[in-house]
Amino acid sequence: MEPGDQQTVAGLDAETFKKVFRLHPAGVCVVAFDNDGEPAGFTATSVISVSADPAMLAFSIDSGSSNWPGLSRAETVAVSFLSAEQAEVSARFAARRTDRFTGGGWHRLPTGEPVIDGAAAWIRAAVASVAEAGRSRLVVLNALEAWHTGRPPLLYRDRTYVRLPVESDLQPIAQVNARQRLVSDAPADSGAESDTRLLPPTDPA
Ligand SMILES: Cc1cc2nc3c(=O)[nH]c(=O)nc-3n(C[C@H](O)[C@H](O)[C@H](O)COP(=O)(O)O)c2cc1C
Repeated sequence: MEPGDQQTVAGLDAETFKKVFRLHPAGVCVVAFDNDGEPAGFTATSVISVSADPAMLAFSIDSGSSNWPGLSRAETVAVSFLSAEQAEVSARFAARRTDRFTGGGWHRLPTGEPVIDGAAAWIRAAVASVAEAGRSRLVVLNALEAWHTGRPPLLYRDRTYVRLPVESDLQPIAQVNARQRLVSDAPADSGAESDTRLLPPTDPA
């Protein structure tokens, strides 16, 4: 398949598909942009890291959403990564028929994109490409600048907002080194180079 080609098959039913993702926890973001001088944005759990060098990320948006017409014209966006205290912010930016920005709690970057106050982090990014994917659009972005704090993230699972347990209650299962090899005997504070974002496949074959 060439980039841009779209293949649609009569596949898995939507209910089963949604059940799988419902139990898969996700970090919660607000994607926001300037829409002809007005702030616009929505809650998104579809934000993913795509490439580290060059730094690229992506998210998907339902083409039927009220944000899509404005977003399809936007050249830049800001992705705010919500912190554990911000379930109310997430609910506000997902609610229909409401002005999501009148409650305050946000500001514009010098370049104009709205970001959420108190977020764990934000990334300002330029739209690189848009691909059709069923009813949705997959928007790929070039990351331009970022700001981050140590605030714990807001997670969403099974229609519930959740937070990670405090550090002392976390139950580490395995630590990995930079080459994704399991490091069984390194205590969490050993200073060993670690990156737990990707665990190696467990398939023994
Ligand atoms: C936790 C959560 C995650 C969401 N993630 C996405 C997403 O990734 N993409 C998307 O298009 N809508 C997502 N939505 C829905 C939007 O936030 C919003 O409710 C929807 O676009 C309807 O907006 P509208 O009233 O402006 O049309 C999510 C909603 C919630 C509560």
